[in-house]
Amino acid sequence: MQHAKDVPFTFEVSVPEATMSRYDNHLTRRLSSMKGQYADREAYAAMLEQEDMLLYEVYETKRPEVAGELLHGLSILHPGKVGREYFMTKGHFHTVLETAEVYYCLKGEGMMVMETPEGDWAVEELRPGRVLYVPPRWAHRSVNTGTEDLVTFFVYPGHSGHDYGTIETQGFCKLVIEENGRPKIVDNPRWRPREKT
Ligand code: F6R
Ligand code: ZN
Repeated sequence: MQHAKDVPFTFEVSVPEATMSRYDNHLTRRLSSMKGQYADREAYAAMLEQEDMLLYEVYETKRPEVAGELLHGLSILHPGKVGREYFMTKGHFHTVLETAEVYYCLKGEGMMVMETPEGDWAVEELRPGRVLYVPPRWAHRSVNTGTEDLVTFFVYPGHSGHDYGTIETQGFCKLVIEENGRPKIVDNPRWRPREKT
């Protein structure tokens, strides 16, 4: 994409509203795009039959997808659950594994579930004012454990790309479910260590 006016620019990310004043791409993801991702398959099917709910939205500033650029925007994950599992993003590895990402939480309560191809895992809490650094090689998925939108501002290298397929096959090794009104991290029964390539 050619940028006629490739000059410095500014925009506001308003706090506490957690909105972005300037963007040129708005992506939406609905329940139907999360097939096979929630542990409770019956609850998922029953919810989908009722309504193909909007789960999350991304507002992006479009930039060329090349090394040297920084892609950035807002991710807005709505609250809710499928069975006992909280609403979450699809999650992905970056296609160029050796690329990192920074998240800044503006609103809501949540967790970032992360893992490496080698099977290391980490879960970090997201809350307003908290910055999360996702190092190169770590797949990442946001989970909304609260009752309002979970809003994060993200920045990552332009050439990163997104590999959704690896996660789609068996999910992350950890799930975040509600137990006695509180989030709990549990093993994903479908997950197996990845074959070494
Ligand atoms: C970009 C990134 C975020 C997510 C967004 C939606 O690399 O990590 O902008 O893209 O939170 O999640 P996914 O892409 O997993 O559907
Ligand atoms: Zn990412």
